[in-house]
Amino acid sequence: MSELAPSILSADFMRLGEQLHTLEESGLKVLHVDVMDGVFVPSISFGMPVIKSIRTGCQMMFDVHLMIKEPARYIKEFVEAGADSITVHVEACSDIGETITVMKQYPVKRALSVNPGTDVNVLMPYLDQIDMVLVMGVEPGFGGQKLIPETLEKVKKLDQIRRENGYDYLIEFDGGVTRDNLCEIIQNGTDLAVAGTAVFRGNIRENVWDLQEVIAGAS
Ligand code: DX5
Ligand code: ZN
Repeated sequence: MSELAPSILSADFMRLGEQLHTLEESGLKVLHVDVMDGVFVPSISFGMPVIKSIRTGCQMMFDVHLMIKEPARYIKEFVEAGADSITVHVEACSDIGETITVMKQYPVKRALSVNPGTDVNVLMPYLDQIDMVLVMGVEPGFGGQKLIPETLEKVKKLDQIRRENGYDYLIEFDGGVTRDNLCEIIQNGTDLAVAGTAVFRGNIRENVWDLQEVIAGAS
């Protein structure tokens, strides 16, 4: 069954520990961690010290989404900080193959991400070397944006490519996920649906419950 991965970008950082505890208690297994550098994307979020710190009190799998330029420079540090999987953007790497080679040196799952304007064909040479593809449903940089509907076609295409070639990468979808569009996102082939606003705005426990119900109904 598909899974929900809450993005802590929308958390209340004053109460981060408490909110992570609520997510764990709700049965969620994957935490989406958005790192932004102010260069590849306009905004800046947080980095290794925050990840290292929350790692000590959270058992969830840390799915680290690097929205940073030339991420190969920082793979080692994010693994040491506690990342279980690392996603890099194809648009941010001057050499995608070399970035994958760097990731292969560490005990971490490897993922590539594509922005809304990037064709999935750029991923073709690498699909047998990665564990996951992250399809962006919005321009990366901020939570709370509206999903760009055309991006769902990419999920469908990646699911088809996976079946035709016997690949085993997971498909993750990130950006603009709501209770209303989650069913379609899952049915197009998404394994891991990231949600920031839809999880953290209002009552976290109730939001997770509602979103989980949609996923159960869609799977
Ligand atoms: C956007 C980030 C997303 C973001 C999602 O650049 O990669 O993970 O937190 O937020 P929502 O679910 O609010 O669109
Ligand atoms: Zn993200």
